[in-house]
Amino acid sequence: MDLKGKRALVTGGSRGIGRAIVEALAESSADVAIVYYSRKDKAEELQARVQRRGVRAFTLQGDVSSWESAKSLVDRAIEVLGGIDILINSAGINGTKTTLPEISEREWYRVISTNLSGSFFTSKAAEAQLRANKGKIVNLSSIAAKMGGTLGSHYAASKGGISSMTFAMATELAPDVMVNAIAPGPVDTDLIAPEVKEKLGALTPFNRIARAEEIAHTAIYLLENDFVTGEIIDVNAGRYKD
Ligand SMILES: NC(=O)c1ccc[n+]([C@@H]2O[C@H](COP(=O)([O-])OP(=O)(O)OC[C@H]3O[C@@H](n4cnc5c(N)ncnc54)[C@H](OP(=O)(O)O)[C@@H]3O)[C@@H](O)[C@H]2O)c1
Repeated sequence: MDLKGKRALVTGGSRGIGRAIVEALAESSADVAIVYYSRKDKAEELQARVQRRGVRAFTLQGDVSSWESAKSLVDRAIEVLGGIDILINSAGINGTKTTLPEISEREWYRVISTNLSGSFFTSKAAEAQLRANKGKIVNLSSIAAKMGGTLGSHYAASKGGISSMTFAMATELAPDVMVNAIAPGPVDTDLIAPEVKEKLGALTPFNRIARAEEIAHTAIYLLENDFVTGEIIDVNAGRYKD
């Protein structure tokens, strides 16, 4: 896919990995709808920055964990961009607690609803549009899907679900829509507490955690390539191999 002039909806676009993907898309001359949840300031600052590259950029507020809100986000993106060709599902949270005794029912559903249901809802809402435009979906799984990780069983389960959902959607939507996921190890964003970044970095053969731009680079590869679908790309500097 030539990204020039393509129209992308990026959930989680205001910060972290989603933000880096928005910048990479704009660098490739794609137009973007940047979804934020509460950080309007961050989304608008990014909007102004990418507009200076000459692309069209819009900000949209919404909560992907609600079907109505996710549907509305997709509808508004189609309206402002005139259609969408690309859906990036990067909105995600970690829980406030990580152990079984601490994870309440409410906390379980909060993490699952945002990370897993959110990616399902936006994909479901965008299906017809993406099929019509021979579009692409890139989801954000995690090393936690295979290894468990350190953020708790709710977070790991949400990411395992995203990997499984990616396989299922890739089969169901082929050959119209290509669906892939990226499974990063720890990335230097707000999702990772500052005090553990060095410790997590020491676990990788490269002795550092990833930069968001390195994940965005993988997203651009998945979008530009026209013969890869149903794949989960590990990006973790060799910390985990099959
Ligand atoms: N960082 C890592 O180490 C790492 C590793 C593997 C996978 N991942 C995955 O990569 C994705 C992006 O993570 P990140 O590190 O970029 O996180 P981040 O820096 O904390 O950014 C999270 C983004 O999600 C948005 N968001 C949160 N809840 C939302 C909701 N209910 N509805 C809509 N948007 C919502 C936030 O919006 P606001 O700015 O408005 O709050 C923000 O844009 C997540 O799915 C995460 O699980 C991250």
